[in-house]
Amino acid sequence: MISLHQVSKTFVSSTNHFQAVNAVSLQVQEGEIHGIIGTSGAGKSTLLRLINLLEKPDSGSVIVGNQDLTQMSEKELREARRNIGMIFQGFNLVSNRTVSGNVSIPLELAGIPRRERVERVDEFLEFVGLEHKSKQYPSQLSGGEKQRVAIARALANRPKVLLCDEPTSSLDPNTTNGILGVLKRLNQNFGLTIVIVTHEMEVVRNMCHNVSVMELGSLVETSVVDQPHD
Ligand SMILES: Nc1ncnc2c1ncn2[C@@H]1O[C@H](COP(=O)(O)OP(=O)(O)OP(=O)(O)O)[C@@H](O)[C@H]1O
Ligand SMILES: [Mg+2]
Repeated sequence: MISLHQVSKTFVSSTNHFQAVNAVSLQVQEGEIHGIIGTSGAGKSTLLRLINLLEKPDSGSVIVGNQDLTQMSEKELREARRNIGMIFQGFNLVSNRTVSGNVSIPLELAGIPRRERVERVDEFLEFVGLEHKSKQYPSQLSGGEKQRVAIARALANRPKVLLCDEPTSSLDPNTTNGILGVLKRLNQNFGLTIVIVTHEMEVVRNMCHNVSVMELGSLVETSVVDQPHD
């Protein structure tokens, strides 16, 4: 489903060059939950953003589905990105839009007609258990609720792949379990392929099929998670 081949990314500014991702190759099968762990600054978020080309790689190829994203025009890329949902590190909600308004954003960008938008927003808010908060603004929500809005927004276009950047890092254990439960349900019921960056081994043991370790921009190891997961 996802295939990275020798992908590198260097951030260049007037004063320095920094290689955040160094020749990383990674395979993720359809229906897999793949964890990415590693110390702060190892390049995990950058790697995740390379999968949907929010960061443009300097070299290497990024294939999602059967499409090589690195060969695409901006227009083709916008289309292809609809199949790739993303949950950011931090919630990244738009503060002057309601819960419904936030979930609706990707649908508006995709040109979905209003009636269908309303239906889909309701469907996904119900899925994450927040239909009763649809008219609230982000500042009126708890952290766990904000993250569930971010999940509903990432799912609104019915993506095949979901990229999650530390989706539970600022949440208490109960709320974390709720969020992980939502992600697992998506994987089990709809075969959603998930790549999840985390620093919590609990998350890896609890839901990942495979896990990769990043160190100083390199992917040093990928292994099977042998814990049973329900
Ligand atoms: N836009 C940027 N410009 C310059 N350097 C950057 C940029 N984005 C990231 N970096 C650098 O690249 C390195 C990797 O960053 P990245 O955000 O991928 O790390 P991370 O593994 O996700 O860390 P954390 O666990 O703290 O979230 C860091 O040293 C960071 O300072
Ligand atoms: Mg990060």
